[in-house]
Amino acid sequence: MESIITSSYAVHFNEQAYTKLNAHLEAHAYSSLFIIVDENTYTDCLPDFMSAITGDFHFEVLEIASGEINKNISTCLHLWETLSQLNADRKSLIINLGGGVVTDLGGFVASTFKRGVRFINVPTTLLAMVDASIGGKTGIDLGTLKNQIGVINQPEMVLVLPSFLKTLEDRQLQSGYAEMLKHGLIADVAYWETLKIQATFSALDAMIYKSVVIKNKVVLQDPTEQNIRKTLNFGHTLGHAIESYFLMSDEHETLLHGEAIAIGMILEAYLSHKICGLPETKVHEIKKVFLQRYAKIEFTELAIQQILSLLQYDKKNSHGSINFVLLKAIGDPVIDQQIPYNLYNEAFAYYKD
Ligand code: GLY
Repeated sequence: MESIITSSYAVHFNEQAYTKLNAHLEAHAYSSLFIIVDENTYTDCLPDFMSAITGDFHFEVLEIASGEINKNISTCLHLWETLSQLNADRKSLIINLGGGVVTDLGGFVASTFKRGVRFINVPTTLLAMVDASIGGKTGIDLGTLKNQIGVINQPEMVLVLPSFLKTLEDRQLQSGYAEMLKHGLIADVAYWETLKIQATFSALDAMIYKSVVIKNKVVLQDPTEQNIRKTLNFGHTLGHAIESYFLMSDEHETLLHGEAIAIGMILEAYLSHKICGLPETKVHEIKKVFLQRYAKIEFTELAIQQILSLLQYDKKNSHGSINFVLLKAIGDPVIDQQIPYNLYNEAFAYYKD
């Protein structure tokens, strides 16, 4: 698979990935090398990764606890302190080997340590391959509020190795698939048509590639999210609020990111119909596709009110407005849309029916 070139770095796939990494390590005289992993990637991915390194390099392995709940400042503090104790300097390199938590947080730690150390993302989940590791968004959560702290800073390179997906549970694959379905909805109706009928995860490589192409095309046009990059947030305004609500709640199991934004996409498809004229048949189709893949969640009235109150923290808000990305048609998004309050309850009622 041909590498995908972004503004300042390349995304390399499969066998090319390790070749490019080895050449990069040989060509750059890094003062020290660090790999951030979590307990899952330490066991499932690190041995393969290390055995593919051809040069005589020493890596310090920094392990963090897995899960969104650990994407916080305490984990960063622990990593900054460890990097400092191990004499990391501005010529060090950090490799983030993991899912979205590792690539987001590891990228943030690298971007802020000594005002910036270079980093490489090696995503090991589908979600990180098609979304989190691409485009330079790094960051952490503030309490349970998603990605409130962070910077946009591009990696040195991204290595996409779908062979890592063998170790993932189906639920994790489905979570990443939600972001791929989103790519179809915001950018490519033919891609949506292909994705919506896939029954298994047997031939993902070409689809991962397509998703990275779509995301990269958007990010190239608007790296700092002033306009078109907002379209990548379809489903995320309500989706992030739902995800935060479940992270906050002691009574419910947390939802994976893709599970939360799948609900967000159904709700925002309904809002798209009401505000921008997305045909009703398409709203039903979107609902059906997502409900075939993601379990339906019961929301109490109180839960809905708490979710709506979390919308005030969305990162796209400005001047007191909550700004949505909606769809005029599949593949035709529109940004900065405001919603009359009564439509939120209608959207939840539509999801429930
Ligand atoms: N995950 C959306 C973006 O990178 O813009």
